[in-house]
Amino acid sequence: MDSKKKPPLRSQSWFGKADRDGFMHRSWMKNQGYPEDLFDGRPVIGICNTWSELTPCNGHFRELAEFVKRGVYEAGGFPLEFPVMSLGETQLRPTAMLFRNLASMDVEESIRGNPSDGVVLLMGCDKTTPALLMGAASCDLPTIGLSGGPMLSGKFQGSDLGSGTAVWQMSEQVRAGKMTLEEFNSAESCMHRSKGHCMTMGTASTMASMVEALGVALPGNAAIPAVDARRTRQAQMTGRRIVEMVKEDLRLSRILTREAFENAIKVNAAIGGSTNAVIHLLAVAGRIGVKLELDDWDRLGSTLPCLLNLQPSGKYLMEDFYYAGGLPAVMKEIAHLLHRDALTANGRTVGQNLEDVPVWNRDVVRPFNEPFKAEAGIAILRGNLAVNGAVIKPSAASPQLLKHRGRAVVFENIEEFKERIGDENLDIDETCIMVLKNCGPRGYPGMAEVGNMPLPPKVLRKGITDMVRISDARMSGTAYGTVVLHISPEAAAGGTLALVKTGDMIELDVAARRLHLDVSDAELASRRAKWSGVPAPTRGWYKLYVDHVQQAHLGADLDILVGGSGTDVPRDSH
Ligand code: FES
Repeated sequence: MDSKKKPPLRSQSWFGKADRDGFMHRSWMKNQGYPEDLFDGRPVIGICNTWSELTPCNGHFRELAEFVKRGVYEAGGFPLEFPVMSLGETQLRPTAMLFRNLASMDVEESIRGNPSDGVVLLMGCDKTTPALLMGAASCDLPTIGLSGGPMLSGKFQGSDLGSGTAVWQMSEQVRAGKMTLEEFNSAESCMHRSKGHCMTMGTASTMASMVEALGVALPGNAAIPAVDARRTRQAQMTGRRIVEMVKEDLRLSRILTREAFENAIKVNAAIGGSTNAVIHLLAVAGRIGVKLELDDWDRLGSTLPCLLNLQPSGKYLMEDFYYAGGLPAVMKEIAHLLHRDALTANGRTVGQNLEDVPVWNRDVVRPFNEPFKAEAGIAILRGNLAVNGAVIKPSAASPQLLKHRGRAVVFENIEEFKERIGDENLDIDETCIMVLKNCGPRGYPGMAEVGNMPLPPKVLRKGITDMVRISDARMSGTAYGTVVLHISPEAAAGGTLALVKTGDMIELDVAARRLHLDVSDAELASRRAKWSGVPAPTRGWYKLYVDHVQQAHLGADLDILVGGSGTDVPRDSH
């Protein structure tokens, strides 16, 4: 026997059997018209599809999957598309984040339980990207990512209109009496006018960039607009490549290394990426067994400059980013800081992929030594108010508020906030610090994107557009402001946040990485003795989630999902 002969592919333990089980695995599949030779031992490629009409950002994924299939067939593979739970950021209540871990379980078991040798992950809307990466990481087959691409730039009254970012801006203008409701409503059809995901540097574009920076996708993946013909070409090339990855046994764990995560953290700083990337990358690292900590974000990224002039921190949109050179152009600028020998999905290293990468528009992608913003990466705060850490994105904050001491105005939950924020009698001004509780992983539950609380109308009317806001919530990647997020432990887990009262003084000092509640330990102990907690869910996914979800500084994964279970399922179904 030839000792170099490769063992049969995993799928052959389904399709390669000459017995009753093999008959069943093949025969039922043949009802879809597949010819005999597709079961002959060639790589079977699962195409993990998050298409759903309720996830509009992924609404074009059936079409995209067809181009992946073309590529798989061309390379001699057998593509099989399968659906997994899809998470539409704009529709799902109480928040899509509540279901990220659930979707990841669906992905993990759908990959492991089926005859796949390699997987293509079709990802777009915010949570679909981390959910698929997490699930795939827990299996560790050869895996490649394909993002759906951003929408074309929104256009309204002769100007660009960015997803999310412009919603926050315009709704504040309506509340301040500077825009009519009719104008606001007419912007709806102008903002989202093509297929694709949000076209600001929000969470979807950030995570698509992370997929590329991690090396899980082919170069160029992040920025090609969804409707650009080059997106379907990318899909076809991705299909071709995954077949080769199976032949090379290029598993996810060879790509998702500590070096890859360090690269991604640095790239996130250079693109002014979303704070949500912190939670998602911590969770993905936990699945693949890479030790990554909250402080890595500060240590590796906080002093790096932002090179990308994109909303919400800047002016342009993803379409402009693609025409300027896309993510490779940014990575080229910081190549000297990256692990250039990190392996990527195309079989080349990061450094090899960045050879001969051009930059076409220097107003969009700035040079490293003339950045768009200096020291723009995510900062991690600590103090008695955030013992396990909190997150702030200084590039999206007001510089004059990065060191601030103010009187707390506390909202116990999101309902109380919505009820009271418009009250003209609310005792609040622009020097106060708005504090929102019970919006963390356990408290909401699901850690909703409500941390960028709208300002009180009476403050807005003075022309003031930012105040310090702190919470255990997340914030949309399309949002901006001096917003402290992800406080850990959260209020519902008994963190100090639960004990803050209106009138307390809070000190924020981003340069010193400090978030301090100016209340004595004795007083806090007395308040803690009276703290009664919040009611917990009693059934279904909500209960399972709240019983097992970890705090934000660990990535908010379920404790029972950390790590992986490999690819083996020795027991057959009949
Ligand atoms: Fe889907 Fe923004 S709502 S990416």
